[in-house]
Amino acid sequence: MEKKILFPQAGGFLHGGDYNPEQWLDRPDILKEDVRMMKKAGVNCVTLGVFSWSVYEPVEGEFHFGWLEKIMDHLYENGIFTILATPSGARPAWLDETYPEAMRVSRQGMRNHHGVRHNHCMSSPEYRKKTADMDRRLAERFGSHPGLLMYHISNELGGECFCPLCTARFQSYLSEKFDHDIEKLNQAWWTTFWSHRYSSFSQVEPPFANGEGSIMGLNLEWKRFTTWNMTDFLKEEIRALREITPSVPVTTNFMMLYNGLDYRKMARELDVISWDSYPRFHNDEETLFETMTENAFHHTVMRSMKKEKPFMLMESAPGLVNWHPFNKVKRPGVHKLFCLQTAACGSDTVQYFQWRKGRGSFEQYHGAVVDHLGTDDTRIFRETAQVGELLKKIAPAAGTCVRARAALLFDWDNRWAIQDVKALAEPTKCYEKTCISIWKEFLKMGVEMDVVPSDDDFSGYDVIVAPMLYLLQPGTASCLKQFVERGGQLLATYFTGYVDDNTLCFMGGFPGDGLSELFGVISEEIDTLYPSDRNHIRFGDGWEDWEVRDYAEILRLTDAEVLGRYTDDFYQGGAALTRKRYGRGNAYYAAARCCPGQMRPLFEQMLAQAGIPVKQFPEGVEYHVRTGDEGTYEFYLNYGTAPACVQEVYGQDMLTGSEISGTLTLEGYGAAVIRK
Ligand code: GLA
Ligand code: GLA
Repeated sequence: MEKKILFPQAGGFLHGGDYNPEQWLDRPDILKEDVRMMKKAGVNCVTLGVFSWSVYEPVEGEFHFGWLEKIMDHLYENGIFTILATPSGARPAWLDETYPEAMRVSRQGMRNHHGVRHNHCMSSPEYRKKTADMDRRLAERFGSHPGLLMYHISNELGGECFCPLCTARFQSYLSEKFDHDIEKLNQAWWTTFWSHRYSSFSQVEPPFANGEGSIMGLNLEWKRFTTWNMTDFLKEEIRALREITPSVPVTTNFMMLYNGLDYRKMARELDVISWDSYPRFHNDEETLFETMTENAFHHTVMRSMKKEKPFMLMESAPGLVNWHPFNKVKRPGVHKLFCLQTAACGSDTVQYFQWRKGRGSFEQYHGAVVDHLGTDDTRIFRETAQVGELLKKIAPAAGTCVRARAALLFDWDNRWAIQDVKALAEPTKCYEKTCISIWKEFLKMGVEMDVVPSDDDFSGYDVIVAPMLYLLQPGTASCLKQFVERGGQLLATYFTGYVDDNTLCFMGGFPGDGLSELFGVISEEIDTLYPSDRNHIRFGDGWEDWEVRDYAEILRLTDAEVLGRYTDDFYQGGAALTRKRYGRGNAYYAAARCCPGQMRPLFEQMLAQAGIPVKQFPEGVEYHVRTGDEGTYEFYLNYGTAPACVQEVYGQDMLTGSEISGTLTLEGYGAAVIRK
């Protein structure tokens, strides 16, 4: 397990964030003070130029990069590195005035007016040309600057465009996909239904708000196309930069589980994965542990996209944000926990949006390290500086990775297909929530679990959970069979294997594509329960009953062993949890939605069969482990306000230097990083 430190120049973790000095060019005193305070806060890296286009090129063809050079130089002289963004996330007014095609068209078919950001057309040749030209200039000017660590492409790419250029690209994309044979598309999308047959690709429109929204295959393909087109835009930016500076790494900042783009497809183009994390701290529906472990799921989705190296946290709020429904400040100590969790989950960076609050406009009250007060003696500054210190203490952990033998399958295609399917009940579909709640149960057992797409390579795993895998990618069923055959423990649930990758139903019984043979069951009906309905599953071998909510499938048993049966309703006594021995492994099928906490004995059984140890933690404590060739680093994070004791901990706490031999006591909001 070779250690792959992301940025050896920086000697460990990066700590810093978005810095927008172009807003302060008339205040050299502030720019000077910024660098002094950055050093005091242990900041060793900033992201520059995210929204600088109108300062770089105030009128078309007139370029001003001197200010940035001065700032990058000064930062570098003070030990602060730069991540240089490309400015395509927002356009100067002259650009939209001259090239209106750069402005996006909405689902209603209306062209946007100039303004805000993140709203360009991804197809526009003019915008692509302007962007690539700007990127080349940046690479030429700054590509060999000793302070440059990497490029940050655009910002939080997202959204869709329904303009004539995008429509035409969609049509040629479809023509390619279906071998230029419209009949193949008609079959794949079942268009004879409601007389929706097409006779040419030029008739296929995107799913406009007042247009075709009833073809599931079209809706799904439009989402895939949007990812493809966005990735193509991203690739064009990367190409322009690499022409000049092929060895500078590139990333783009992702947004949690952003629904609009299949990040796995974009990830292939990037050298490093980075993302922006903004949890709703201290909300009134969840405990801090629940909020933070959901954030850990997001971290895990990101780290699982490139398992062999650390990822980056590109943005987070040092204080509050300004866009949640309620913006509660993080309680003292929570910022430290948030940052250590970032490291615990495999990030080599802790970065913020932003360094200093601007005086005006949309984000003037968004949290930053430096407030309008302007001093370094605020609570937020002190807590940030404390994180700077802690990251230095745990520097040897940088470059190590989280290793998992368990995986949860989570797919964007599947997610889109479930969102769109006219079945189940809209309020209770809850695909994401179902995945997250199961994943959290493994986290509570101290088991690292990757979150991977259903067409991933399963060969490194011993346990796989595939919740609600409604859509099967080509090959997924046979890979799952191979996984179980060679000794894997697999759990699938209700609503598995109903459709293929075009959302056409499998014939001959669900789960389809051969999975009914793997599980030894066929789902004959799915009962969608009202929110107040309950059923239960009862087991023969001493497990407590599981409560059933929302969905219960009625199974036809072919050759599986029945572990649990329904207690009520007309399917009382019917199989609800089954197991089939297949090759050297086990294929479990849970036919109903149950609370993952109650399902714990099943998870423990699967882990035991796989030889994966389960650990015990006090309530509210999160645990992760990063591994490198010269050691392991265990992270313990206490989200409770009361002290918590963890047993069986041995090694040195890198945060305090103390040796722990057995019992680790964590203060309220306390943390420890144990080196073995
Ligand atoms: C109506 C329509 C049918 C079908 C059913 C579905 O009755 O006439 O074509 O859509 O609804 O319930
Ligand atoms: C996103 C953007 C930033 C900023 C923050 C505010 O992450 O990338 O530019 O708007 O949100 O939370």
